[in-house]
Amino acid sequence: MDKLLIRGGASLKGELQVSGAKNAALPLMCACLLTPQTLRLANVPELRDVATLLALLGRMGVTSSRRGHTLDLCAATVTEPLAPYELVRTMRASILVLGPLLARRGEARVSLPGGCAIGSRPVDQHLKGLQAMGAEIAVEEGYIVARAARGLRGARLVMDVVTVTGTENLMMAACLARGTTVIENAAREPEIADLARCLNAMGARVGGAGTAVVSVEGVEVLSGTAHQVMPDRIETGTFLVAAAATRGTLRLTGADAGSLEAVIDKLRESGAEVATAPGEIRLAMNARPRSVSLRTAPYPAFPTDMQAQFMALDAIAEGTGVITETVFENRFMHALEMRRLGAQIEISGNTAVVRGVPALQGAAVMATDLRASASLVIAGLAGRGETLIDRIYHLDRGYERIEEKLSRLGADIRRVT
Ligand code: EPZ
Repeated sequence: MDKLLIRGGASLKGELQVSGAKNAALPLMCACLLTPQTLRLANVPELRDVATLLALLGRMGVTSSRRGHTLDLCAATVTEPLAPYELVRTMRASILVLGPLLARRGEARVSLPGGCAIGSRPVDQHLKGLQAMGAEIAVEEGYIVARAARGLRGARLVMDVVTVTGTENLMMAACLARGTTVIENAAREPEIADLARCLNAMGARVGGAGTAVVSVEGVEVLSGTAHQVMPDRIETGTFLVAAAATRGTLRLTGADAGSLEAVIDKLRESGAEVATAPGEIRLAMNARPRSVSLRTAPYPAFPTDMQAQFMALDAIAEGTGVITETVFENRFMHALEMRRLGAQIEISGNTAVVRGVPALQGAAVMATDLRASASLVIAGLAGRGETLIDRIYHLDRGYERIEEKLSRLGADIRRVT
């Protein structure tokens, strides 16, 4: 099993091109199921999750070819509308095939995703919305068995919970439904607007994506198109925090500052100088960070996917930061590992109080989930001595060759087996 060995202390300096967004690429890949024609996606990141979804789509009869970061997907015929447990349990986002399969084939058998390290991750909102659109849904032996023999019909849906993939699943299903669907209390994440841009280029009629009310006028058929995946705002934020934590200077190209305003505000509050221009973000941190407090919530508020990274920044900051996690019920696993590095963190329910220390001391730690892994990398880079991070397969799910990128910025980091 691979591990990452980090010798802390170097300030990150240099320039980096941001990769395509994992959380945009995954729903975009599922959109290929909505048309028999070829969907060409550019700027697709090379990630474990992308490979997993490609395998899942391949089982359904989707053909694909990849040249660098461009991926062609074609669901000319969907031979088997099945998402098996052994694939779904490794990647919850597999649930995103459900809406498109129902819309295109009128049937789907998708393993319930099950929970993961950060929470129970239910999909009740996905199922409730599809049922309102006329699908018959049963849960049998851990599988969602869904049918819509006469196709889906438009409906007015009010989401009880703001859910990103729930909004995406229902938006895709609605594209081929008879009539108009309105999704109220929809999630507003930028990845949803990116998906809508692609769907509309395929001939769909989606309005309001990126706002709390999304409307979709169903059409008979969708065609192929070519679409460029938006930049990964969480990878962008992760590298900005790593540069801030190591008192470095960083220029990110191919980045979208507009999708990261809450994060950039917090970086400035911690004392970083952040300058933005179209497609570019520059950061400089010349002194020890100041502690910041934050509260995660759905977009455009502070993103839960950046919470662990800021805990690493607060761990070595001047002062005390209070971090409140309101989206997932168990997203402080990284705090337990950071304590092994000397971090002073007290957890009470969904709130963590982080008292900054002058420096963390390297140690052996274990990654528990994707963003927790990133926070341990940041803690190791900012710490003194050697940090050895185990179970970094979590990291490979969402970060493209992270140790190569960090090495180019001057980090002493390498993958060991
Ligand atoms: C997406 O997950 C992202 N994944 C997550 O990123 C991200 O953390 C999350 O949105 C929140 O921003 C992808 O886009 C592939 P939710 P998703 O449905 O859609 C509850 C990462 O690190 N809920 O918005 O699964 C749920 O329990 C990953 O890249 C229901 O109760 O998250 C949670 O508390 C981690 N019922 C809250 O809503 C439902 O039917 C938000 O979950 C669905 C969700």
